[in-house]
Amino acid sequence: MVELNNGLAFEALNDRADALSLLETRRSASAKAMTEPGPSAEQLDRLMTIAVRVPDHGKLTPWRFIVFEGEARERAGGIVAGRYHELHPGHGEETLSAQRNMFSRAPCVVGVVSTATKDHPKIPEWEQLLSAGAVCQNMLMAATAMGLGAQWISGWFAYDRQVLTALGLSDSERIAGFIYLGTPAQLQDDRPRPEPASLTTRF
Ligand SMILES: Cc1cc2nc3c(=O)[nH]c(=O)nc-3n(C[C@H](O)[C@H](O)[C@H](O)COP(=O)(O)O)c2cc1C
Repeated sequence: MVELNNGLAFEALNDRADALSLLETRRSASAKAMTEPGPSAEQLDRLMTIAVRVPDHGKLTPWRFIVFEGEARERAGGIVAGRYHELHPGHGEETLSAQRNMFSRAPCVVGVVSTATKDHPKIPEWEQLLSAGAVCQNMLMAATAMGLGAQWISGWFAYDRQVLTALGLSDSERIAGFIYLGTPAQLQDDRPRPEPASLTTRF
């Protein structure tokens, strides 16, 4: 049993006893309720090493990472809040402060950037995008296996080109996901999971 520094038993969220039970029980921790500590430098390095171990047709490596830690989260939040203010000038201070806090909710946020190219002669863009999704999921799984809480988030700003440019993305790059990493501050109820039989036909 792993005791979190806030007293929660992580096994109540995820059964990490073996690979299959982890896969069967993994669930996200809420980015809104995440506290310190985040991943150590070694853990983050290991997380990214695991995350890139995904199927990648053509070995194109069509993804990259942007890490937001420490005061960089406030700088990123400032960009989000500034753009929000430009788009919705009539908001209240509370809303603006929530926008400014977007990257500071967790100790560490990893932006998984899709660098897919549309015009590759052999590998369809769709397959490159799927590979970026696999990177996000691998990171979630690895973080959960390490005893961290993790959530895959987009948010309106993941689709705002001005914000993306300010965060360092080129015009053709997109956010596959922001992976929020930290220590879960509360037990998260699981959600109903689909019954595979209802999604499956046999040909
Ligand atoms: C591409 C993508 C973007 C997402 N963006 C958000 C988001 O912005 N906000 C949110 O609350 N959940 C978002 N989610 C959903 C959460 O990651 C997650 O599915 C939810 O918290 C339930 O988690 P679990 O099924 O992993 O337990 C997104 C999921 C995906 C795949």
